[in-house]
Amino acid sequence: MEEVHVSTHPLVLHKLALLRNELTEPKKFRELVREIAQLLFYEATQDLPLAPLTVQTPLAPAQGYAVADRVGVIPILRAGLGMAEAVVEILPTMHVWHLGLYRDHETLQPVTYYNKLPAEPDIDISIIVDPMLATGGSAVAAVDILKRWGAKQIKFLGLIAAPEGVQLLRTAHPDVAIYLAAIDSHLNERGYIVPGLGDAGDRQFGTG
Ligand code: URA
Repeated sequence: MEEVHVSTHPLVLHKLALLRNELTEPKKFRELVREIAQLLFYEATQDLPLAPLTVQTPLAPAQGYAVADRVGVIPILRAGLGMAEAVVEILPTMHVWHLGLYRDHETLQPVTYYNKLPAEPDIDISIIVDPMLATGGSAVAAVDILKRWGAKQIKFLGLIAAPEGVQLLRTAHPDVAIYLAAIDSHLNERGYIVPGLGDAGDRQFGTG
């Protein structure tokens, strides 16, 4: 069983409070999503395998390292877009595979509307990004799709989770490590995380 990592880093906690604030405007909100995503990505990639190499400095050859595995980020559209852009800034060799899943507002079940994964897996590590792990339905569906595709190592990176979402994802896919900035109190009757931050898509894109 992989672990659930909830960041205790002071910078993550500081920025998370700003992100939650209802007065935070979309521009600042997007900036905070990116910054927190990068800090969580740093934590989630501590175990990336390295290949040794030699690099020539202006003075002499030096021993160095390169990330050995092919890493892909899979943003769940549309709220995961900001997080995906942020992690690609840190590791520009990453592949980005978009997955369009929306929650049916009546049944709260995920529906796939966009999936352009190539026929064969071209990455060793798949990192799903979605800011809100609410019911967990979309995350479980995304992992199902990636596993059917042939993905071997899968991690989930989110900002805020409800206990219900963590539980569902862990039960369905215990081999997926989960990285978060917080686990909140509960889901309300409309499927929103409480206290959460509202709708992460609307708040990033100024809609709603
Ligand atoms: N999606 C969101 O954007 N916010 C929630 O609270 C739950 C799902």
